[in-house]
Amino acid sequence: MAVLAGDGIGPEVVAEARKAAEAAGARFGFGLDWVDYDLGADRYLRTGEVLPDAVLAELREVDAILLGAVGRPDVPPGVLERGLLLRLRFELDLYVNLRPVKLYPGVSSPLADVKPDDIDLLVVRENTEGVYVGAGGTVHRGGPAEAATETSIETRAGVERCLRFAAAKARQRAGRLTLVHKTNVLVHAGDLWQRAARAVATETGVALDYVHADAACLYLVSDPGRFDVMVTDNLFGDILTDLGAAIAGGLGTAASANLNPDSSPSLFEPVHGSAPDIAGTGRANPVAAVLSASLLLDHLGERGAAAALEAGAVAALPGAAGYSTQALGDRIATAVAGGGSPD
Ligand code: IPM
Ligand code: MN
Repeated sequence: MAVLAGDGIGPEVVAEARKAAEAAGARFGFGLDWVDYDLGADRYLRTGEVLPDAVLAELREVDAILLGAVGRPDVPPGVLERGLLLRLRFELDLYVNLRPVKLYPGVSSPLADVKPDDIDLLVVRENTEGVYVGAGGTVHRGGPAEAATETSIETRAGVERCLRFAAAKARQRAGRLTLVHKTNVLVHAGDLWQRAARAVATETGVALDYVHADAACLYLVSDPGRFDVMVTDNLFGDILTDLGAAIAGGLGTAASANLNPDSSPSLFEPVHGSAPDIAGTGRANPVAAVLSASLLLDHLGERGAAAALEAGAVAALPGAAGYSTQALGDRIATAVAGGGSPD
């Protein structure tokens, strides 16, 4: 297991996720070998290195990667995001970003009158294409004729493999898949997604539904229960999953898996960032990192351990705000180890 704890609250929450995973290993009879990598703002400011090729080569060989968070105000925006996180997504071809949006019991949603059962969906975000590819440039920079382009690239193969993954997930759940795009304006990419989605739906037998990205924002707030598995492009998925996190009570419980379903290693990380404003205060919620570790164990085939991590996190959630990062991590680890509630 490679650990990229990263910046800000990253190391704090990753420590608790490891503790929970260790407890699950002890209970379910497997061991975990962790290798720490000191990538992130400190390394960059000290050495200028973001992701040395030799480190990338090592990361290709591990079973999975657990990442905390990257980014700090004293590093220019984009350096670590593009140079580390996005580079890993691209180089390891982590083409699915799987983001569960789930309201857990004991967590309050800003939406009135919603119960946990009302918010339980999966967002399958395409993770290697779209505007994220970095195709574009600036000409006549600083002058009156300055122009910038940021080209969105979608490939049939890239879209299709993401749709196939989403359809497989839908089949394991309610058999419903919602494509989210903006086909009324992005007619070229939208058409590609739409045709590919119809073909995959026919082939896999899932019921396909379509919602524009703006309307999806509205429905996530007004009627989140209408979604079960949502599949969408990289940028829409980025935006929609922050909204998803908000309706499910905030970034404290939002986990994600950057997957290459065909070969290892995949990368698991909380959706939240490095939160420099609360770093070092002990106030970070480790649940999103624990749930990300749960996705990791599930991906490696340790289903029981993954379920135990989720159950442990859920058991610790009511009143979580009253506990420090470490105290909450201890409660989760205790629940995971014993299979009971933390008290
Ligand atoms: C996310 C983040 C990243 C993204 C940033 C940090 C590059 O917002 O994982 O959602 O835009 O994908
Ligand atoms: Mn994001």
